Amino acid sequence: MLEPLFVLVLQLSAVCIQAQLLVGFYDSSCPRAESIVQQSVMMAIQSNRPLASRLVRLFFHDCFVQGCDASILLDSTPNNTAEKDSRASATVGGYEVIDAAKNTLEAVCPGTVSCADVVALAARDAIFFSGGPHWDVPTGRRDGLVSQASVVASNLPDPSFTVDQSTASFSAKGLSQSDLVVLSGAHTIGFAHCGAIMNRFSANGSDPTLDPTFGKMLESSCPSPSPDATKLLPLDVLSNTIFDNAYFVNLQAGKGLMSSDQALFTDPRTKPLVNAFAQNANSFSANFQLAMVRLGQVQVKTGSDGQIRKNCRAINS
Ligand code: HEM
Repeated sequence: MLEPLFVLVLQLSAVCIQAQLLVGFYDSSCPRAESIVQQSVMMAIQSNRPLASRLVRLFFHDCFVQGCDASILLDSTPNNTAEKDSRASATVGGYEVIDAAKNTLEAVCPGTVSCADVVALAARDAIFFSGGPHWDVPTGRRDGLVSQASVVASNLPDPSFTVDQSTASFSAKGLSQSDLVVLSGAHTIGFAHCGAIMNRFSANGSDPTLDPTFGKMLESSCPSPSPDATKLLPLDVLSNTIFDNAYFVNLQAGKGLMSSDQALFTDPRTKPLVNAFAQNANSFSANFQLAMVRLGQVQVKTGSDGQIRKNCRAINS
């Protein structure tokens, strides 16, 4: 019964904050922009499937640190350590897919399409090619000039966070607790390293919210105190290459990978929405699209702010 209300609330807030960006922003200046990005993403995922989840996380990390302005794409320089070289974003990837799309865009419409928009479009396309929904992405973002490793950790939620902590992190970006739940559903694809779950095991025993069998499997995959730092664990034990609502079904079974995931089911404030999405894949899909549009609005630069980078890895000289 709660579902229509959630959709309505999410839709209303989506309308209010879309003022500066526009669906079809490049329709006349670079009509092939979106299809060029789509083609690059499709080719990349066809040859390397894990790139899909990397592109989605790339978008999240871009937007949460200094806004959706492609600051995550800038390379470090001798005088500056950039976001991508921070500890919290060290395992983010997909940069080469953005480069490929941008190279083609620069050949077809030089200096027109921002790297920030390429990141936003690529995330949408990566989800679509993983079996998820397709939605209109408002565009017109401009690229930032600053990227600092030192501000990354304080802007991102940590996998050990409680719902209160994650909610505060999302609220700092103008996103709601419902956005936290629905966007965490992106963990239906992709992987995490052992480091993201080690807080779940201690000398006093393992996290009681873990399904016991699943917990043992995780503990043997990532033995304390020195797990294999390169080992990858699926974020969704049921179907981690397919964008579906299985993430929420896992949470109901105590099979959320990270504390921050499982907490969404343990906390009575977020549990009803987890249950609603576990029960109704269409509701998850509809709400996810709207929440991604909202994520894509976080602290965007538009108009004459920032620039359109020629090369996504460096500001224009
Ligand atoms: C409380 C919020 C969140 C926390 C604490 C969190 C944390 C993490 C961590 C620790 C990883 C694993 C990194 C690694 O070990 O390499 C991860 C992976 C991932 N996250 Fe999140 N995340 C959150 C929200 C989101 C959101 C909002 C999105 C996108 C909308 C997202 C998309 C992804 C994806 C797709 C992956 C898999 C990346 C891959 O396969 O390489 N996450 N997240």
